[in-house]
Amino acid sequence: MAIFLTGATGYIGSYLATGFAARHGESLNLLVRAKDAGEAERRLWQALQLHLDFPAFREILGTRIRIFRGDLTAPNFGLDASEYHALAASTDSVLHAAASLNRKSEKSCLNVNLRGTLEVVQLARRANEAQGLRRFSQISTVAVAGHRKNEVVGEDQAIEWDRSDYDPYARTKKFCEHMVRELLPNVPRTVFRPSIVLGDTRRPETTQFDMVRAFVFLAGLPVLPLRPTDQIDIVPVDYVADAVIALHRKVQPEHEIYHLSSGRRSETFREVTDTLASARGKMKPLFWPGLEAPFRSTVTLLSRRRDSVGFAASLLKVFFPYLVWNTVFDNTRVVGELGCAPAPFSTYAFPLLRFARENKFRYPYRNWPEEVSATAPAETWEPVATTSQAGGRGAQLRTGGSRP
Ligand SMILES: NC(=O)c1ccc[n+]([C@@H]2O[C@H](COP(=O)([O-])OP(=O)(O)OC[C@H]3O[C@@H](n4cnc5c(N)ncnc54)[C@H](OP(=O)(O)O)[C@@H]3O)[C@@H](O)[C@H]2O)c1
Repeated sequence: MAIFLTGATGYIGSYLATGFAARHGESLNLLVRAKDAGEAERRLWQALQLHLDFPAFREILGTRIRIFRGDLTAPNFGLDASEYHALAASTDSVLHAAASLNRKSEKSCLNVNLRGTLEVVQLARRANEAQGLRRFSQISTVAVAGHRKNEVVGEDQAIEWDRSDYDPYARTKKFCEHMVRELLPNVPRTVFRPSIVLGDTRRPETTQFDMVRAFVFLAGLPVLPLRPTDQIDIVPVDYVADAVIALHRKVQPEHEIYHLSSGRRSETFREVTDTLASARGKMKPLFWPGLEAPFRSTVTLLSRRRDSVGFAASLLKVFFPYLVWNTVFDNTRVVGELGCAPAPFSTYAFPLLRFARENKFRYPYRNWPEEVSATAPAETWEPVATTSQAGGRGAQLRTGGSRP
């Protein structure tokens, strides 16, 4: 029996797949988008190489991972009847981490988040009827709390249906939580709501650069249109992954919903920028909150440009509401149950931002060694497209699909 994990090729999903399979020896059924088996393995290697060397990857691929090539937006994930049956029959818990984080696209959020989660729920029901489902966990987001200002939000107060949302991502993730609760009433469920997931306390390397890029942009400004005493709730990815793994494996977690966040101990903008300025040997920025409106207009204008400044501005535009809401998410539940709190962002931010800048916001991916292929001879595998991020032949990268 295995955990059915979606989103393993994503940033957080790669931590979950590696943690479950390599650290805990769990068997995994992974849903991976790819046109053939070779591409699926290569895409998985690309995601997991942040955590594993190639022999270790091959080891878990051969012993603990079964890949189902499918798409959340296709009926039965696009699997044929026998594959779908095999997936349902070998799944005894579900961890749904895949999503579209494209805050600008109603269509993408509707299809991937709503239709996709419904497909995962249908699979869970099949598995539950067949052999019983130990747990259904979903990775949600604190963004389900909608428009907020100057608040500390608890898990049970976050969802209010008459409250507006900042974007389609938040709106669809909110309904996903509701859908799972309504359609799986008899299955033990866990909802994880991370805040802004940024960086790893154990290493500077990351494969996810959107928010980092927005921070680097802000860190380069001499004047910030923010209130210095506002708190920003950032949580490191290793804390999120450790919490999800521990609570998903637990026989009976104490709660149904967990904020994976820094909560009341979230740092202020001044604390973060002071630490970064002294690490870089630069002047501390000035804070001028009155500039928020002109700053937003400038960012909107810049976001129309088709260069790297335009890209950074378009990221900042969608993230900006989450920078100025001065709202944090109570984490008493997870801290109590795990016995530890997340490290403050300023303690690991500088190496992360330096890594991102030095590598031009790209992870230096290693290619798949040419001589090996688990299920297909290397010469029969055809890359669809090779991006500059992949750094050469053999490693296809598809990062754009779910990013703003
Ligand atoms: N990152 C954050 O700051 C943050 C904060 C709060 C909550 N979360 C939640 O954490 C989860 C993971 O986020 P992330 O940052 O790791 O995102 P990510 O890096 O963009 O990964 C998204 C994953 O979803 C998969 N996916 C997207 N569309 C799919 C489809 N149609 N069929 C199958 N798989 C599909 C992607 O597969 P491909 O590789 O094929 O594209 C990828 O594996 C999400 O549920 C998100 O809402 C993230």
